[in-house]
Amino acid sequence: MKIEGSVDAELVPAPVVLVTVGKGEAANIITIAWTGMVSDSPSMIGVSMMHSRHSYGLLCSLREFVVNIPRASDVDKVDVVGVVSGRKVAKFTEIGFTPLKASKVRPPLIAECPINLECALRHQLMLGKYDLFVGEVVAAHYDDGVLDTKGRLKSTPDIGLTLVSLEYWTLGQKVGDFGHAGKEWRTARRRPHESRRDSARAATLSGPEPPHMVSCRQ
Ligand SMILES: Cc1cc2nc3c(=O)[nH]c(=O)nc-3n(C[C@H](O)[C@H](O)[C@H](O)COP(=O)(O)O)c2cc1C
Repeated sequence: MKIEGSVDAELVPAPVVLVTVGKGEAANIITIAWTGMVSDSPSMIGVSMMHSRHSYGLLCSLREFVVNIPRASDVDKVDVVGVVSGRKVAKFTEIGFTPLKASKVRPPLIAECPINLECALRHQLMLGKYDLFVGEVVAAHYDDGVLDTKGRLKSTPDIGLTLVSLEYWTLGQKVGDFGHAGKEWRTARRRPHESRRDSARAATLSGPEPPHMVSCRQ
């Protein structure tokens, strides 16, 4: 049985990242949990930020940001960054992060973060108190040893901090590879006389054509 819950919904887990905005002495860091990859080729990341944040003005004026993936062991510093404002605190020096020059954008990378994704702002969607900023990843940096020989992230327990109902969690155990069950399921489902192309076509034709563009206005 299901019970009806609050519509103040949350998606779990939410990735916790440190976003850097602004440049030079004015550079600032903000902790963000409302974020995610929203596209590939080009890679795009969405970041949702409240208008009242000091970082909001810095992002709007420079139209560039860096998404820095913190180490789980830096959770205390990540939390502090997320409860104090750059209006009052020089977060890099006072909280103890080191700025590094980025290659394509003006906000700095955070040296202590093993992954840094430089983003150029492409879209800004107003959502009441928040704006959703969508940035294209224009450069990516990885600490030595973070990627395997195929360029994939090694499963490292210290990388990947998440938020679940206001609690910080690291990633637990690996439970499968992308597509491992899907491939088997598709093979078992395909009728023996059907070609791969026939079944893909049948799947496409079975529902109404999705709209290519929908209006967000009510
Ligand atoms: C775990 C965590 C996640 C947060 N996620 C967001 C978020 O997605 N969007 C947002 O606007 N603020 C978020 N915040 C709040 C900001 O990080 C916080 O208000 C910060 O002090 C703003 O700093 P600034 O004024 O220097 O920009 C989060 C805070 C924490 C601790």
